[in-house]
Amino acid sequence: MSSNPNVPTFAFDDLTLDWQMTRCERFAFWSLLQHHKPSVSIEVGTWNGGSLQVLSRYSEKVYSLDIRPKSRDLLQDKFSNVEFLVGSSHELLGPLLQEISRKGEQLGFVLIDGDHSAAGVRTDINSLLKYRPVCPLLIVCHDSFNPECRRGMVSAEWQSSPYVHYVELDFVPGVFHEFAYDTAEPRSMWGGFAVVQMLPEPRAGELVIGEAQRGLFSAVKSRSRYSAAGRAAAIAQRLPQLCARFKGAVS
Ligand SMILES: C[S@@+](CC[C@H](N)C(=O)[O-])C[C@H]1O[C@@H](n2cnc3c(N)ncnc32)[C@H](O)[C@@H]1O
Repeated sequence: MSSNPNVPTFAFDDLTLDWQMTRCERFAFWSLLQHHKPSVSIEVGTWNGGSLQVLSRYSEKVYSLDIRPKSRDLLQDKFSNVEFLVGSSHELLGPLLQEISRKGEQLGFVLIDGDHSAAGVRTDINSLLKYRPVCPLLIVCHDSFNPECRRGMVSAEWQSSPYVHYVELDFVPGVFHEFAYDTAEPRSMWGGFAVVQMLPEPRAGELVIGEAQRGLFSAVKSRSRYSAAGRAAAIAQRLPQLCARFKGAVS
């Protein structure tokens, strides 16, 4: 048995590039960009251009950062308003933000979807927290439902920036893959949008890191491959199959 949490959408048939977001996320991503129409956007993690095709449509200019030269090679002829930067965002993002400030560009949207380790996610977020926005800036951090990515998001230095006004880790909740799907392993947790709003003026009150679906996250995690109980359940689930294979081998 398999499940496909991505298609059909009955909406995005003209977007043909492989898009690594769930159906819910596609609607949210499209809608946020259509509503905000940013002057300048940054994408950290482009892969095969799925999310870039929406960023390019609704932004005047996009900077695409990917460590894989193949993303640029595959996509550079498809988008006239995208500048491709090849390398690790951990080295590229800070200098790019400084350059954007120097040029007086209006950065209005950032997608963080590159290095999915906790340290990688935290590094990307912390680079953004050093930036002083000149217009409302929305940041979408993908895979907030994945425990490793979420750990990076929770441990980012949110309080260090006076320009952060809103952080919600479960703006769009993620999915549980009970069975293997695409690159996802059985009992893995992926997807989810953390959404952050930065504004040019400093915030007045306390900054709360929202986790509106923390209960859902914890309940699913206890059944997932990220907990001992979940791993034991996965072995129990596969036991009849393993026994049959063993019997076949000895007979
Ligand atoms: C999940 S894919 C991005 C999917 C894409 N945003 C979409 O929605 O279709 C992650 C991408 O991040 C890139 N990546 C991984 N580590 C990176 C890093 N340190 N800096 C920049 N890109 C990185 C990978 O090469 C890969 O293309």
